[in-house]
Amino acid sequence: QQLDNFTFVLFGAESDLSSRKLLPSLYQLARWKQLPEKYRVIGVARSAIDHKGFRAYARQSVQAHAPDSLANTETLDLFCNNLFYVRADLTETEGYILLRHEIDKVVMSDSSCSNLLFYLATPPSLAPHIIDNLEKADLGGKSEACRGWRKIVVEKPYGFDLTSARELNTIVGRVFHEEQVYRIDHYLGKEPVQNILVFRFSNGMFEPLWNRQYIENVSITIAEDFGIRTRGAYYEKSGLLRDIIQNHGLQLLAAIAMEPPVDLSADAVRDEKEKVFRSLRPLTKDNVRDHVMLGQYDGYRNEQNVASDSTVETFAAVRWYVDNWRWKDVPFIMKAGKNLAKQVTEIVITFKCPPQNFFGPPQSCSYTANQIIIQIQPEETIAIRFGSKRPGKELVTDPVFMKFDYKTSFEHEQMTPYQHLLLDAMAGDQMNFIRQDAVESSWRVIDGIRDSFKHVEPDPYPVHSWGPYTEW
Ligand code: BG6
Repeated sequence: QQLDNFTFVLFGAESDLSSRKLLPSLYQLARWKQLPEKYRVIGVARSAIDHKGFRAYARQSVQAHAPDSLANTETLDLFCNNLFYVRADLTETEGYILLRHEIDKVVMSDSSCSNLLFYLATPPSLAPHIIDNLEKADLGGKSEACRGWRKIVVEKPYGFDLTSARELNTIVGRVFHEEQVYRIDHYLGKEPVQNILVFRFSNGMFEPLWNRQYIENVSITIAEDFGIRTRGAYYEKSGLLRDIIQNHGLQLLAAIAMEPPVDLSADAVRDEKEKVFRSLRPLTKDNVRDHVMLGQYDGYRNEQNVASDSTVETFAAVRWYVDNWRWKDVPFIMKAGKNLAKQVTEIVITFKCPPQNFFGPPQSCSYTANQIIIQIQPEETIAIRFGSKRPGKELVTDPVFMKFDYKTSFEHEQMTPYQHLLLDAMAGDQMNFIRQDAVESSWRVIDGIRDSFKHVEPDPYPVHSWGPYTEW
């Protein structure tokens, strides 16, 4: 698809996210010739640097996080020539006037750059300031002065509960139309996550079994083998439910549980996901203890910027139910945590046992349970587990696997999640971005859990274990 020429305005140009992900991904897109012929990136941040300083900073970031750039200096030079910088305190209007001048300069010298994509790689508390000020500087999406298109990409966390998410939606909605808003969850840019839709709906053999008649349970694991690193201050306000379950976890669940969309338009897909969120059985004071377990890794309270009596959770296990015709009473067991035994994100769909087991030796059906295992990382694979005859005279079964691996099936270089999502936002495809209603529905269920766990100490668990014990 031919992309429109545009200007990319990067708020929080010096953030960790910009340096590790956004600038390197933009560079990669440039290297793969996937950016439009004319584009500009205007970085906006607090440091007293100029265009040259920003180019030097971006060059360093790209070289550190996109190592192939070391061998492609010409492309990197060209990319850096398209970078500009505006120094601004994002809470003050003044900086936005400077930004406006900088945009006008570019637009005047090349009218094809009047399309604007604003990217908020900033802490959530700054989003309302930025949006307000964009409006004041006549840079909002509804501005009459607008000649080309305008879009805004907002990073997670999108609010920290239902009330704040609604407030943010109101502010965003005052200044931008919903079709101009791209709420990012980088999990939706991961190739194996995007493949769930294709796996389910481009094949005839899985979907007939994809329901409560045949599926025993679904487990979703997002495990990290490291702690909160230097993010103590953030984690103290967030905790794992908000950091992982509200967004990445529930998005994976929706991809597995949703009905086929009527077509591949962004709203058709997002309508189906929203129905899943609305079907989630509410977890309230009366039932939450049977369905949720929260944990905190040993030593968390000694991390930097963490309170010595912190009750913030770094692990959560949630047994969800999707109360609809397809899934009623099938448990979706979600486990996510920091400092767990292994780094792995995986979805396992376990099928019910056959009605009779003829084959010996007598063992529980789970020994050869049929499963579809979708590993999202570190491997990008889909495996099917089934029972097979063990070689020899006897008719005994052992579990075996059939496996698809992205690495061996597709040889070309893969796009990173941010490359995917940046391209989608540029092209105007919102399918893999979160719609306003989904943000609110997902916060509603997370708030229900959090309210029920107020003042409850999470269970401690040893570093590099699988979290506190749950029998499910
Ligand atoms: C982020 C969370 O959204 O996702 C982090 O804030 C987490 O806490 C990260 O480590 C995980 O992303 P990925 O792509 O490494 O699985």
